[in-house]
Amino acid sequence: MADDTTDTKSSNQMWGGRFASGPDAIMEEINASIGFDKKLFAQDIRGSIAHATMLAHQGIISADDKDKIVHGLNTILSEIESGNFEFSRQLEDIHMNVEARLATLIGPAAGRLHTARSRNDQVALDFRLWVKEELEKTERMLTGLIAAFLDRAEEHAESVMPGFTHLQTAQPVTFGHHCMAYVEMFGRDRARVRHAIEHLDESPIGAAALAGTGYPIDRHMTAKALGFREPTRNSIDTVSDRDFAIEFLSIAAIAGMHLSRLAEEIVIWSTPQFGFVRLSDAFSTGSSIMPQKKNPDAAELVRAKTGRINGSLVALLTIMKGLPLAYSKDMQEDKEQVFDAAESLELAIAAMTGMVRDMTVNTARMKAAAGSGYSTATDLADWLVREAGLPFRDAHHVTGRAVALAESKGCDLAELPLSDLQAIHADITDKVYDVLTVEASVASRKSFGGTAPSEVRRQIAFWRACN
Ligand code: ARG
Repeated sequence: MADDTTDTKSSNQMWGGRFASGPDAIMEEINASIGFDKKLFAQDIRGSIAHATMLAHQGIISADDKDKIVHGLNTILSEIESGNFEFSRQLEDIHMNVEARLATLIGPAAGRLHTARSRNDQVALDFRLWVKEELEKTERMLTGLIAAFLDRAEEHAESVMPGFTHLQTAQPVTFGHHCMAYVEMFGRDRARVRHAIEHLDESPIGAAALAGTGYPIDRHMTAKALGFREPTRNSIDTVSDRDFAIEFLSIAAIAGMHLSRLAEEIVIWSTPQFGFVRLSDAFSTGSSIMPQKKNPDAAELVRAKTGRINGSLVALLTIMKGLPLAYSKDMQEDKEQVFDAAESLELAIAAMTGMVRDMTVNTARMKAAAGSGYSTATDLADWLVREAGLPFRDAHHVTGRAVALAESKGCDLAELPLSDLQAIHADITDKVYDVLTVEASVASRKSFGGTAPSEVRRQIAFWRACN
């Protein structure tokens, strides 16, 4: 058995000064993040170039060393991009992998790069840059999804379908109006994304380990070089919070919830029983045993991915909730949650955009369904209020009796003979048949934000102007 004192493993070349021996294999395994944080290589190198440039500008390192550092970092960038970089788990993370390679490439000047910074502000910077870019991408993707819905809404501003509450037929609406409901949801998601970008648009670099630094650095210069609005104001907060990542995950969870509801509707609508939409071959799959089947797998997977995103949000909230200020290694676990959620969200938005653009809408099926289930009962009640002067509660009661009668005869409201209607209320005239059709019903709902085609077109115009 090996004796502790004769451990021959070497200590870490980056921080091992006070260590006599290297880590246990399990220590190395639990500690290393390179397996996932190598995704941050571009942000890490960009941050280091900005930092070195600032150090030279401030006279903290020489221009000559800065040039060597920048050149070396650019070499490393192309090595990683072309797959010619060997990542080492012994070097723990992306920061130390890059720095160690820099030392091999340029020698002692590499050791000057880490002046006036720590991995704590370095990782806060890299991760913020990554999340900011992901938010910008999400914003663009949501804009694409909204555009897809606007096109379908325009095409179907007049197409009638049943509107549901409790998944029971409630009142007729237009398919355009239903599409525009999703435009509102994804529009709010996009607004949340924009707000989050504003929140995190502050540069962490220069907060150092937690207390700032005694070197005469210029944090405004690095903030500007890295495209941030300004530097963060408190060094302790800078290295110890991950609320920007949690905000990304919350936005992803809310958008995911919207996408999942849409997915659920597509699953329902594409059943032969509903038959409201038909998915394109490009966004459905067959069954290996039942040749007749066309399955909405992509929609189902969007619904499931939302569960993963929610899991990531809860995981990171839980990781963070007990941590004293400032940095603790627990925070290293933030990245995989965000990377996984980002991948799921991107896929979900892309798949839904494709499905919405491609699906065939069966307006005949929608219209037939819109007329069933006594969907124009409210229109009859409203007619009694308007034309016969009944209080709405009484009109509701009269209409209820008409629905019961139609139900017992197995016909629609519009199929009841006038004599039957007049037996329920003497003031009913044949004019009532004008409001009992689904087209008349939707056309009458002209209140602001209502389902009338004219209102749907107003909503479309509003969103076209800001999309
Ligand atoms: N890999 C670490 C992380 O992701 C970098 C920061 C390490 N800082 C430290 N004090 N050990 O959080």
